[in-house]
Amino acid sequence: MAENLLKGKKGIIFGALNDKSIAWKVAEKAHEQGAWFILSNTGVAIRMGTINELAGKTGSMVIEADATSTEDLRSLFEKTLQHFDGKIDFVLHSIGMSPNVRKEIPYTDINYPNFSKTLDISSLSFHKILQTAYHMDAINEWGSVVALTYVAAQRTLAGYNDMGDAKALLESIARSFGYVYGRDRKVRVNTVSQSPTPTTAGSGVSGIDALMDFSERMSPLGNATAEEAADYIILLFSDLTRKVTMQNLYHDGGFSSMGMSQRAIEQYQKSFEDCK
Ligand SMILES: NC(=O)c1ccc[n+]([C@@H]2O[C@H](COP(=O)([O-])OP(=O)(O)OC[C@H]3O[C@@H](n4cnc5c(N)ncnc54)[C@H](O)[C@@H]3O)[C@@H](O)[C@H]2O)c1
Repeated sequence: MAENLLKGKKGIIFGALNDKSIAWKVAEKAHEQGAWFILSNTGVAIRMGTINELAGKTGSMVIEADATSTEDLRSLFEKTLQHFDGKIDFVLHSIGMSPNVRKEIPYTDINYPNFSKTLDISSLSFHKILQTAYHMDAINEWGSVVALTYVAAQRTLAGYNDMGDAKALLESIARSFGYVYGRDRKVRVNTVSQSPTPTTAGSGVSGIDALMDFSERMSPLGNATAEEAADYIILLFSDLTRKVTMQNLYHDGGFSSMGMSQRAIEQYQKSFEDCK
């Protein structure tokens, strides 16, 4: 493994709830690679989760912010720039939540206040973070912003509900803001489309175990773990990917390019013969 890929870099990591969170693994690896960062989450998540343990391990400060509140974000960025006595180099958006998924409301019956909340938390928060950083000129040239997404933005996966719509919007924001941020300040903006992963948010999706099993069988390299996602994100924060921007990057063991696997054909044939 390369060393010190993020030496001297500073950032903000949103979304570490507990040691299962993808953001938690990114924070651990960023620390190993020499970065300094602020950890941010909502007040409830800070109280209910174990983020303070991560802060202790990585020598980081925790700053509370609801990523749907532009006021909270402004205060977070101000405190961050003050803390580091200057601009930052990377931001991780690892935030997602759908009340419709949580309450198992079918897609045909979703309630619109819930839908708005899904979009506000899971997609618009990304625009709000980028807009706050852009107007405060908070990110250094060649800085890197990454958000986590899922292939349900491109393909329908039953159970993912309005999160599929939210991820499609999130990926579009990465392209639209990525253009302006690249043109004006040479800041990269990308999304990483990760395999289903056993985290608190992941386990809220109905049928997640079956989805993970299906995806594992379909992917030639198998599902990507949260640790592997963190390795990839470190690379995207590093100077080794300075010309990568406005991309949705699949980190899914090949799943997104598959039609039907040999294993699936064999299983289908077997169950077909069993029914004869
Ligand atoms: N787990 C999976 O299967 C999977 C797959 C692909 C993409 N993702 C994405 O990865 C990201 C991280 O999720 P995870 O799987 O690590 O689960 P997680 O539950 O550990 O993380 C989700 C985080 O979002 C935070 N959050 C919710 N509302 C917020 C708000 N208003 N302001 C700030 N933070 C808020 C939560 O507190 C939590 O820390 C999400 O965007 C998720 O959609 C997850």
